[in-house]
Amino acid sequence: MTNIAILYASSEGQTAKVSRYIKELLTKKGFKAEVYNLNDLPKKFSITGYKGIIVGASVHIGSHQKYGIEYVKDNIESLNEVKSAFFSICLAKINNSEKTIGRGEKQLQRFLKKTGWKPDKTAVFSGALKYSKYGFMKKVLMKFISKLMGEETDTSKDYEYTEWNKVEKFVNEFMSEIS
Ligand SMILES: Cc1cc2nc3c(=O)[nH]c(=O)nc-3n(C[C@H](O)[C@H](O)[C@H](O)COP(=O)(O)O)c2cc1C
Repeated sequence: MTNIAILYASSEGQTAKVSRYIKELLTKKGFKAEVYNLNDLPKKFSITGYKGIIVGASVHIGSHQKYGIEYVKDNIESLNEVKSAFFSICLAKINNSEKTIGRGEKQLQRFLKKTGWKPDKTAVFSGALKYSKYGFMKKVLMKFISKLMGEETDTSKDYEYTEWNKVEKFVNEFMSEIS
């Protein structure tokens, strides 16, 4: 059976949620899928034991999680040997202007440049603003960033922008390359 591992780096949980959704989609399609937090990867985990690897990470202050970047860098040879895909989660696509879409793509390309990874498929998805989960400083910072980006600044609510249909399309296209 085709087995896929989804590895993620997530600070407030949205990339983890997308990763679990991908696992659900793959399982429904009859594939064997496992999902792992890159911060807590089992010691015996080996990339080459899988037919395909999907990595997800999110952007904070212009950069992806350091532990995500380090993992990809440290395992670049194995990653380049299997079918692989990368998705980046950020706020840059929310208002869908050319400028913000370009910003999201730039952040994704920066991750690939830093790691030297050449995945077969990539995608940028919108993340979430989870004000209820932020501490005081994070809330103030995100309210400021959101205002700059023309996004929601009412901190009494949480906002989820992820385009679940695009996630599904990304998974379907990646799997059609594998099988
Ligand atoms: C402190 C902080 C800084 C952020 N900085 C950026 C940023 O520079 N660019 C961006 O597009 N999104 C930024 N975001 C939005 C996150 O990418 C978004 O909330 C995403 O859903 C987080 O995913 P995670 O929950 O998996 O970490 C930031 C969010 C927080 C909380």
